[in-house]
Amino acid sequence: MKESLDKDIIIKELGRSVFSSNFIFHQKINSTNTLAKELALKGEPHGTIILAEEQTAGRGRLNRKWLSQGHENLLFTILLRPPLSADNIFPLTIILAISAIDAINDMTGLNVLIKWPNDLYFKKKKLGGILTEFSLKAGVAEYVILGLGINVNWMPGEGDGLSYPATSLLAESGIRVSRNRLITGILKRFEVSYENVLSGKTDGLHLSWNKLSLVIGKDVEIISPDEVIKGRAIAIDHKGALLLKNALGEEIKILSGDVSLRF
Ligand code: BTN
Repeated sequence: MKESLDKDIIIKELGRSVFSSNFIFHQKINSTNTLAKELALKGEPHGTIILAEEQTAGRGRLNRKWLSQGHENLLFTILLRPPLSADNIFPLTIILAISAIDAINDMTGLNVLIKWPNDLYFKKKKLGGILTEFSLKAGVAEYVILGLGINVNWMPGEGDGLSYPATSLLAESGIRVSRNRLITGILKRFEVSYENVLSGKTDGLHLSWNKLSLVIGKDVEIISPDEVIKGRAIAIDHKGALLLKNALGEEIKILSGDVSLRF
């Protein structure tokens, strides 16, 4: 039986959580990130969640579109107002990825990995992605919005307009996952990790984000608008930067870009 997203069920399951007090649900919206940005500018509080069954203009990183079949997948954005400087914001993306990976593993047994910086992969196919956007005021985050899209009960295939190999939880596990339970599981885990990030307890998280990385130990190309950097991915550091070793044995720190992997 198909399950609809149900705000009341999610709020009840979240219980006492920063994410249960301003939970916004839309059947159809342009993009949960776009609305989150508008609401952030209007002063909506830390912990606001925007969830939608369907997006008409879903956005991905690097001005890409995020295509997703309505009523089958998970599309939501978390609005945060963390007391963090610019170079401490990136771990928030990674803890959301880890929260999603753990919740997915709990519900399906699948071992999903992170393709640095923001993609969720199962084997060689993309399962989800995170779009992080933020604004700074006097060097500190005014708001951070983290938008997560996961292919849940969709069967991506020919003619769906995707330019990369994609998959879904249903396609890989054969299980129709409850999206209400999945978002609850993700938000509960994220809330705990978020507190750890704020209090500087990131050692355990740092181990997890290296262990769950698809790129560590692999030869990669980092593609940015200005250049292509080649090297072997060595580790992800405490701030979330990717460390590479190039052919000359020099260590290079990558803060952003698109990773190309030869599978
Ligand atoms: C990427 O892979 O480039 C990131 C994709 C992020 C997609 C999610 S879906 C919910 C939220 N709203 C958006 O418009 N984008 C993010």
